[in-house]
Amino acid sequence: MTLLDLWLSRSIPMCLMLQSLVLMALCFPSASMCPKGCTCLRGDGLSVNCSHAQLKEIPSELPPDTVLLRLDHNQITSVPARVFQGLNRLREINLSHNALETLGDSALQGVEDTLQALDISHNLISLVHKDTFAQLKARIHMGHNPWHCDCTLQQALRGMFYNHEAAGQVLCKTSDLQDLEGRPFLSVDADLCNLTKRTTDYAMLVTMFGWFAMVISYVVYYVRQNQEDARRHLEYLKSLPSKPKKQDDGEDVSTVV
Ligand SMILES: *[C@@H]1O[C@H](CO)[C@@H](O)[C@H](O)[C@H]1NC(C)=O
Ligand SMILES: *[C@@H]1O[C@H](CO)[C@@H](O)[C@H](O)[C@H]1NC(C)=O
Repeated sequence: MTLLDLWLSRSIPMCLMLQSLVLMALCFPSASMCPKGCTCLRGDGLSVNCSHAQLKEIPSELPPDTVLLRLDHNQITSVPARVFQGLNRLREINLSHNALETLGDSALQGVEDTLQALDISHNLISLVHKDTFAQLKARIHMGHNPWHCDCTLQQALRGMFYNHEAAGQVLCKTSDLQDLEGRPFLSVDADLCNLTKRTTDYAMLVTMFGWFAMVISYVVYYVRQNQEDARRHLEYLKSLPSKPKKQDDGEDVSTVV
């Protein structure tokens, strides 16, 4: 009994210590481990370099103390919602030269206050959610993308801190306005959000005018037709007085017969 007690009293703390060591070994390094294919450099904060790493997506376990994140020259196609959340010191994200097509409204959630630069240039982005950049104070590099210039893009840029600078880099590949194609977005004077409303107003006006024209032409046709009928009727009436005579003659004949 006393031997067992002694054994237990020593082995339990030993076990706990071992367990915590194992846990530390398992958990601690993975928290600040460099993502596969990337190199991490600790200088003034942690710099994570995943350039040219043939990544198809953003590494899921990024070190929480990452300050600079280079993801350029990969084949990344999307930025999942809140993928950078928890990276409280993140100042710069470089996603240039990838295959991004869009950015959702919560793609950059969690880093709004710290982020100073975001590079999404040289991608395949044609549209972003109107609120994607709304809370950001970062400089956003968004050139060399096949932008579709419409109301949504105008709204997204409007919410942007350095919006004038960003709009200067946006070249409209396609647009709601035909003459904007190939031109920089900065040259847009029109309010593209009111444009669609104006277009529908215009369509309604045209439709109404069409109906009106149809009604008018029908009335004109109807009046003309009636005029013709009335004229014919009048002529008929004019010709009537001679007819009764003939009829009378006929009657006379019949009475004669
Ligand atoms: C990042 O990594 C790439 C490829 O490994 C390398 O060519 C480049 O020089 C690195 N950049 C920095 C700033 O360390
Ligand atoms: C992002 O990386 C590319 C390619 O290395 C580089 O040309 C560009 O200047 C970087 N962007 C920023 C904002 O530093």
